[in-house]
Amino acid sequence: MSQRLLLTGGTVVAESGTATGDVLVEGGKIIAVGHVPVAAQSAGTEVVDVRRRLVIPGGVDVHTHLDTPFMGTITSDDHGSGSRAAAAGGTTTFVDYAFQHRGERLPDVLSRWADRAAGASVTDYSFHCAVTDPYDGFVHHLRQAVDDGISSFKVFLAYQGEAMLDDGQLFGMLEQAATLGATLCVHAENGRVIDVLAERLAQRPRIGPLGHLLSRPPAVEEEAVQRAIAIAGMAGAPLYLVHLSTAGAIETLARAQDAGQLVHGETCAHYLLLGDDVYRQPGFESAKFVVSPPLRGAEHREALWRGLREGTLDVVSSDHCPFCLGQKELGRDDFRRIPNGAPGIEHRVQLLYGHGVRAGRLTLERFVEVVATGPAKRFGLYPRKGVIRPGSDADLVVIDPEGTSVILASTMTQRCDYTPFEGWSVPGRIDRVYLRGALIAHAGRYVGRTPAGQFIARSAL
Ligand code: URP
Ligand code: ZN
Ligand code: ZN
Repeated sequence: MSQRLLLTGGTVVAESGTATGDVLVEGGKIIAVGHVPVAAQSAGTEVVDVRRRLVIPGGVDVHTHLDTPFMGTITSDDHGSGSRAAAAGGTTTFVDYAFQHRGERLPDVLSRWADRAAGASVTDYSFHCAVTDPYDGFVHHLRQAVDDGISSFKVFLAYQGEAMLDDGQLFGMLEQAATLGATLCVHAENGRVIDVLAERLAQRPRIGPLGHLLSRPPAVEEEAVQRAIAIAGMAGAPLYLVHLSTAGAIETLARAQDAGQLVHGETCAHYLLLGDDVYRQPGFESAKFVVSPPLRGAEHREALWRGLREGTLDVVSSDHCPFCLGQKELGRDDFRRIPNGAPGIEHRVQLLYGHGVRAGRLTLERFVEVVATGPAKRFGLYPRKGVIRPGSDADLVVIDPEGTSVILASTMTQRCDYTPFEGWSVPGRIDRVYLRGALIAHAGRYVGRTPAGQFIARSAL
């Protein structure tokens, strides 16, 4: 990395506003934004002409599952390959779920995750801890995690037998998180109702992946969202609802926010852009789209876009949870065994720019908020990450608005043999990606030499 870097003449989406200007970087930090006089450039400054380009903060993806054992198999990207895909797609920081399996102690889980990411990740990273089995003494370990910069936890109200907590445990986790100033992320689907419906549907011959959709109707999420919000109210705790997919959930969330409750919501690119019609394809093809919650109809997608515009939702994550087609085969004879999840870390920023900004659904500034600033603020990374302003890390993405990106599994960096967005032609092209001032991706390819990603300790609320 040269000592100084100057991106000059771009349309810079900075905290102070969007304007044509320059971004000056030194020692991995942004030191000036706006018009940087030639006199301010020392010898050895690398000058990059970004005229007719957009310059935005590096994307912050706060929901990924890398190298994670889940539903009888392991996600196909590890922290090396997943972070290279993140870099290629304009994400410079991700927050991965360190997933506790039953019987494990949280410090062991967290140190395993730290070992996997250290020296492998090419972008900066942090962890949440997914708590699936509270044990005697785990409260002490929650406190230790927060002290170590892991200031958020996740619990599941679904996946009975593997991860699901009951309402009493949810209440306890909310109280603990609030006491520690941590954020509790909740997967809100009613696991018991899902299991009853799924058991019935599994008796139907050749139901296939459609059973996944039918066993998780919108009310399964809507009820769990209402319940989680009510329980957070009883606990006097803030709450963050992950991967929301339904109009009803957004309405409930908006009502709680209007009533003054500290509840926040996230959705994912696939819920905004893909519909539940995919599950009606014959055969097993639609196993590719088996994610939880499932994809939904157009009225739900419209409500999610509205929620992003109006601020009810403030984060779009990828929920990157890749399984190759061979892994999806685990559920060929029983849809309940199809590993839930799909790849997405590489295309989130691109899709939100192309289908958000260019399709007229989001302003350029709102796009930047939901892919970078909002997630950074929500999870204790701001103002180091998620924003272009002096003092912040020089994590910068240069977008060519005149380019086009074609999404193909055969050319992508994600370690997966399909993408739910195969063949999509998306306006705009991610041209250059900088991590703390160093170029890590160019023209959609990781170009770094050694993995330089750092663990970022996150502040509590
Ligand atoms: O289908 C999904 N979302 N898989 C990942 C696990 C989760 O619930 O986030
Ligand atoms: Zn989840
Ligand atoms: Zn997830």
